[in-house]
Amino acid sequence: MSDNDDRFLIVAIDGGAASGKSSTSRALSERFNFMHVDTGSFYRAVTFKLLEAGVSPDDETAVAEALAHLHPSTRIEGRSARMEIDGWVPGEEIRSAPVNENVSRFAALPVVRRFLLDYQRGQAEVARANGFRGLVMEGRDIGSVIFPDADLRIFLDASPEARARRRAAEGQADQIHERDRLDRQRKTAPLHCPPGAIRVDTTEMTLEQVVDHIANLVEARLR
Ligand code: CDP
Ligand code: CDP
Repeated sequence: MSDNDDRFLIVAIDGGAASGKSSTSRALSERFNFMHVDTGSFYRAVTFKLLEAGVSPDDETAVAEALAHLHPSTRIEGRSARMEIDGWVPGEEIRSAPVNENVSRFAALPVVRRFLLDYQRGQAEVARANGFRGLVMEGRDIGSVIFPDADLRIFLDASPEARARRRAAEGQADQIHERDRLDRQRKTAPLHCPPGAIRVDTTEMTLEQVVDHIANLVEARLR
């Protein structure tokens, strides 16, 4: 047993919509006993609550006021961390068309990103406290803003056509092109592959190939 066997590892996985972040992260969490955190689901849950409160992403003051009434906590389900907000457990409603259409607009607001910043960083402590060997967190700015010092930072890419095909195969109506455009162009924490992150183009790769490739990189950091 080497000294590194007890080391807590943080793996950051970023990429555009339907690039394979969730399926890859889930598989890695199983393989290495990492806690899995899908930060997109946090932005989706907050978007659902803001829409429910009747707030528009064009009114940042109203957004800030509505956010002050939201109190997120975390529940572990299997190897995934789930956000709860004041007892509400987000379900499939956070994948609905109104949320798809608005999430990137809310996510572009600095007040929304600030609201989620410490909550996301705090997930490392949740993972440690629950006995996980590490954390695999996926999103758009994990390797650039949330955990720039992560042990491994991956940026998943795939052609827009491949990503649109994947999402359509899931039967979802989702303007991924428009979300990607907003996510790349926003001023605060835009979607990009930061210096030092490893870009993996998955257009011609199966999910198993992607997982094996990243798992090898994880193994190398555990040695
Ligand atoms: O599953 P998919 O990749 O389509 O999206 P998601 O990961 O559920 O994220 C939904 C939206 O949340 C993204 O389009 C971004 O606007 C926002 N998001 C973000 O801004 N930063 C993150 N770390 C994660 C998601
Ligand atoms: O989380 P994100 O939106 O980045 O993507 P995902 O939900 O993990 O993947 C979207 C769909 O693409 C899923 O149905 C995956 O099974 C599929 N996929 C694929 O066909 N090939 C890959 N290399 C990765 C994902």
